[in-house]
Amino acid sequence: MGHKKMKKILVIHGPNLNMLGRREPGIYGSVSLDDINKKIVAVASELGLGADIFQSNSEGAIVDAIQGKAYDLLIINPAAYTHTSIAIRDAIAAVGKPAIEVHISNIHAREEFRQRSFISGVATGQIAGLGIEGYLLAVRAAQKILSK
Ligand code: DQA
Repeated sequence: MGHKKMKKILVIHGPNLNMLGRREPGIYGSVSLDDINKKIVAVASELGLGADIFQSNSEGAIVDAIQGKAYDLLIINPAAYTHTSIAIRDAIAAVGKPAIEVHISNIHAREEFRQRSFISGVATGQIAGLGIEGYLLAVRAAQKILSK
């Protein structure tokens, strides 16, 4: 019987997302990053996907992770770097793997400076405004994309 290698997603959380649950809970909710990560791992394993999760407050460390880690599809909430980082955009383009951009809040309904994403142009798609459910929807979309 053929044995397919398990596909692997990499989930990257950008700056300040380590403070989820305590940070502006009116906007970002009261669930901690640890709890979100547990849910991501649970949905991924239910769908037969491996999941590696990485959080950093540093742009360069995020670029290094995008380039250096082994994965088939990237799920990334670049947080504030969404609106500033050509380096993260270029890393995603350089690696050439499918990428799903996730935002907890609806960036399009917030301040003007949040309405521009440097990441969207190199992403397969974007999920914004659905709270932490967005990460779980992204894992489900990842499974579909990787099974094609
Ligand atoms: C965010 C939206 C960004 O504008 C903000 O800088 C964040 C979080 C979100 O998930 O809604 O840190 O990416």
